[in-house]
Amino acid sequence: MSIQDILVYPDERLKQLSNEVTEFDGAFKQLLDNLEETRLAGPGAVGIAAPQIAVFQRVVIVDVSKMRKPVPNHGYMILVNPEITEWDGYDIGREGCLSVPDFTGNVIRAKSIHLKALDREGNDIEFDMEGFEARAVQHELDHLDGLLFLDRVVSRNTDIFKRKVYKKS
Ligand code: NI
Repeated sequence: MSIQDILVYPDERLKQLSNEVTEFDGAFKQLLDNLEETRLAGPGAVGIAAPQIAVFQRVVIVDVSKMRKPVPNHGYMILVNPEITEWDGYDIGREGCLSVPDFTGNVIRAKSIHLKALDREGNDIEFDMEGFEARAVQHELDHLDGLLFLDRVVSRNTDIFKRKVYKKS
């Protein structure tokens, strides 16, 4: 396992569309290990997407269970070829990103979602999720389509905030 460099905005590669995962082989397991190690090495990130380490495959890791304020969650999730199949409600909330270390932003997301994906072995998994976990998943899935939270804010003048230190969540 090894910690990988994170692509940082405005790196053009962050706009790239990622490919479906088709092989669940040793190299893929290595990617998952590298992704998790890189997430944990960062400043308390609740999620990471493979394209953030310049691997353009549709896989993300999300784990909001370690947040200071408890939120409903499914713990540690590896989501391969994830797809949101249902959305409900809207909510605005503050987001940060390892690839945008100097800013946070207010982003509108669906309040609850139904998610279909594959696990690390390629088995079908499904989740209903809401609140911050649903927000984190929507944020990570955007990376697979080349989108950052900066692309989602209503106004770059009023919805983006400079931060001095990347705070641990
Ligand atoms: Ni991000």
